[in-house]
Amino acid sequence: MIGRLNHVAIAVRDIAKASAVYRDVLGAQVSDVVPQPEHGVNTVFITLPNTKIELLEPLGDHSPIDKFLERNADGGIHHICYEVDDIIAARDRLLERGARVLGTGDPKIGAHGKPVLFLHPKDFCGTLVELEQA
Ligand code: CO
Repeated sequence: MIGRLNHVAIAVRDIAKASAVYRDVLGAQVSDVVPQPEHGVNTVFITLPNTKIELLEPLGDHSPIDKFLERNADGGIHHICYEVDDIIAARDRLLERGARVLGTGDPKIGAHGKPVLFLHPKDFCGTLVELEQA
């Protein structure tokens, strides 16, 4: 069911500093900071030959990554995103198999303008999983 790895998201406290690490130390192609107020984060997209890395920094008072950064003071891998051909069919298959879909269970429009869903980390080896319609 799952297809390509779309991105790995890394939560950071300071996105400028993190961007500099990826650009200057690792030599990656790094975007400008893109604020996503509707998601409570600032994002930077790092394009690798086979996938992307997304840096996430809290934006606003109640960012969904605040708690994660309280537990992980140095930042860390927040979620991984897999592409699926049909997000509704994917959701139904997962629910049938007892997996938990976060939120209302209806896809929301994610950081790339495509429908996404998040899956409970306890059902997926301790990793928050995002599914994105390919
Ligand atoms: Co993501």
